[in-house]
Amino acid sequence: MLEKLSQVTTSAPGKLMLFGDHAVVYGYPCIVTAIDERINVTVTKVDVATFTVQAPDVGVDNYTRTFAELKAGDTPKGVAFLQALFYLFLEGFPQSEGVSVTTQSEFSSNFGFGSSSAVTVAFGKALCELYQVELDNFELFHLCYQAVLAVQGVGSGFDIASAIWGGTIYYKTPASVVEPLAAEEIPLVVGYTGIKADTGTLVRSVAEKKRQHPEEIEAVFQQIEKLTELARTALMDEDWQTAGELMTQNQSLLAQLEVSSQELDNLIDAAMENEAFGAKLSGAGGGDCMVALAEERATVEAALTQKGGEVMRVKPHASGVRVESRS
Ligand code: PMV
Repeated sequence: MLEKLSQVTTSAPGKLMLFGDHAVVYGYPCIVTAIDERINVTVTKVDVATFTVQAPDVGVDNYTRTFAELKAGDTPKGVAFLQALFYLFLEGFPQSEGVSVTTQSEFSSNFGFGSSSAVTVAFGKALCELYQVELDNFELFHLCYQAVLAVQGVGSGFDIASAIWGGTIYYKTPASVVEPLAAEEIPLVVGYTGIKADTGTLVRSVAEKKRQHPEEIEAVFQQIEKLTELARTALMDEDWQTAGELMTQNQSLLAQLEVSSQELDNLIDAAMENEAFGAKLSGAGGGDCMVALAEERATVEAALTQKGGEVMRVKPHASGVRVESRS
């Protein structure tokens, strides 16, 4: 007989896309690494059928809904993913007792580190523990991915997979391929542009381009696929020179999709002028972060700061979602 739990704390990592951005939405592979900045979620059972959230990092204070109100559309942004997930969870695994949820993030939701997917995954894992529902990684993925699609409408789910599996993974949507890559020591430099990008808008802009120029854009995706395959081998061989060159090629293909920005280009150029092996934007583009591979990381970091970027000292290949405590 399993002991009955009343409180569970879980955590899930943020992520950075290394290769395959945008193409992954259309079924091509990407490579994503989990980073050592996490979101913690504490879920406490309550004996009434309510859903309460405290999320101070995103300005949510004592938000409460009854089970019957969970489907309502007027959900504030800071709780939308949690509420969508809880609704889907209850559909699959009906319960009479509710939850009180507190989230705490080690990073700003502005960085593009995947705070929505990390919080969704951490909450999903906590619910499974608390209500003693056994889901494997793929089942947890599909539950979380459904929630993200319900809120966001678009997305490959690479960020959810990264939050679940952790490490560095080669991924195809919707978790049809998830292959952990042994690439622990990636010499990564990360620069934040200071600009918050809107993933949905950028994904839709690429979709529109694809509608207007289907063959041209498909050809870009195919080139991205080719270099992502090569990057998978280069990363596992710890051949940073080749991986870096592939990053730079990936960046010029992303520029053809018109998703880069002046600020991203400035930081990428600064990295390249300071002997980075290669550099590119990470994620949707338009802002958020760029990544580079470099032997002399401190030199590249100084150059990014000089260009007005904020250096993010994060470690790649962090562990995936985990239970931190239960009582
Ligand atoms: O901007 P982010 O970190 O949410 O990354 C978006 C990556 C895309 O490939 C553009 C979209 C997706 O869901 O894969």
